[in-house]
Amino acid sequence: MKKNSAKSASKTQSAAPATNDSNASPKVKFFSGEHIPLELHKVRVVQKLHLVPVERRLAAMQEAGFNTFQLQTKDVFLDMLTDSGVNAMSDNQIAAMMQADDAYAGSQSFARLQSAVEEVFGKKYLLPAHQGRACENILAQHFVKPNSVIPMNYHFTTTLAHITRNGGRIVEILSDDALKIKSTNPFKGNIDIAKLEASIATHGAGNIPFIRMEASTNLIGGQPFSIANMRAVRAIAKKHGILLVLDASLIGENAYFVKQREAEFKNASVAKILLTMCDLADIVYFSARKVSSSRGGGICSNNKEIIDQMKNLVVLFEGFLTYGGISVREIESMAVGLRETTDETVMSQSPLFIEYLVGRLEKLGIPVVTPAGGLGCHVDAMGFVPHIPQKDYPAGALATAFYIASGVRGMERGTMSSVRDVHGHDILADAELLRLAMPRRVFTLSQVKYVEDRLAWLYKNRNLIGGIHFVEEPTVLRFFNGRLAANSDWPQKLAAKFRQDFGDSL
Ligand code: F0G
Repeated sequence: MKKNSAKSASKTQSAAPATNDSNASPKVKFFSGEHIPLELHKVRVVQKLHLVPVERRLAAMQEAGFNTFQLQTKDVFLDMLTDSGVNAMSDNQIAAMMQADDAYAGSQSFARLQSAVEEVFGKKYLLPAHQGRACENILAQHFVKPNSVIPMNYHFTTTLAHITRNGGRIVEILSDDALKIKSTNPFKGNIDIAKLEASIATHGAGNIPFIRMEASTNLIGGQPFSIANMRAVRAIAKKHGILLVLDASLIGENAYFVKQREAEFKNASVAKILLTMCDLADIVYFSARKVSSSRGGGICSNNKEIIDQMKNLVVLFEGFLTYGGISVREIESMAVGLRETTDETVMSQSPLFIEYLVGRLEKLGIPVVTPAGGLGCHVDAMGFVPHIPQKDYPAGALATAFYIASGVRGMERGTMSSVRDVHGHDILADAELLRLAMPRRVFTLSQVKYVEDRLAWLYKNRNLIGGIHFVEEPTVLRFFNGRLAANSDWPQKLAAKFRQDFGDSL
């Protein structure tokens, strides 16, 4: 068995690892020739899981109003709802929590976080906020005015909600194939430069307070942008005197993909890639629930004036400037977690597991978003259940059906997560996806194989799946707390078929 480092890819014919960098991902080949990701960590704390029978899964889904957000974890086997706040924490993160400095003002925990932010993101000034959307609230309140237009690669649900709440609107300027389910484009998260120029000409630079780029663009399947693209966006922003804001919630995965897919950076460290990306942005904000496997958020910049202008909003909505609504213990774990974002062995685990699952599902003919991205495996509901029209929420129905079939909880990312227009009609989503999140270092490969197996069964029985409709629909971010019902007795029929096929198996 040969061990090659990532830096001495087989193409170079080098037999020995070219690096002693313990943060670089070693390439490990299996003698059998099998391509499977190898965990580079061990499990030291575990949580018992419960796989309840299909009859209970059916009842639990009815109680949850056909909304996976409303399920109780006692009924959930593998929780693939999100990677937010549920990534496995490292031993060093937990250890750091014990030294938290519980001061209201001047906490040294915050000083340690500030120095981690400066080291990893290269930004000197930091405003803490309790999570990513709290950063978005502050940014939107500060920058967005009625008639403001914010160009971006793609929206995230909470980003859109905060911008529209402040009277602004968004324009999404992705390349044409970014919304194609199957693609070989390695950077589907890139902004289309010509369309960006045209958009600025149409709306006027004066109405554009900032351009937003989202790392590992969440809603189109965790798809990265390239640094070449970010440089081009930066140049345009600078030319027009517009700020560039980076949503860095999934920046670690974006940096990993840049290393894998962008030739200029194939020998660069993840740390260097992170600094290069952040250096191009005037403002970087993040959900620490994602980027540092902790819980919290922050806005950072090297522009003291901008940071000073937003301070009042932090003290008004979040808390004092040295904790911002975050527990000091989490602040300590965030500092360590941010530094661990530079470790390729940490950042590669989730993308490698996703790539494995996506590859297996493709072999089975199950429609999934390609190339495999960050965050999770995204199943294309319109390809899986083409008989369900978008108005009947195919991705929501698929999430429901998959839970009944497996006890695995995914998340709808489609029209259910969208909004209504002024006439009350659903704005149909660009894509209808069932997102199966892969929180970092949480699941084992046999659990991933279980996901594959149950999806294969469901795909065979896909004609049994029917639509769903809202019975209670909140006006804001309706997908969190909305309640739905099945359009027929299809869930009962699906559960009965499962029992018939699996006998007394769970
Ligand atoms: N930006 C991005 C790109 C996100 O993915 C999220 C959250 C936020 C901002 C908001 O951060 O949750 O800390 O307030 N994404 C979670 C998800 C909710 O499941 O994808 P938050």
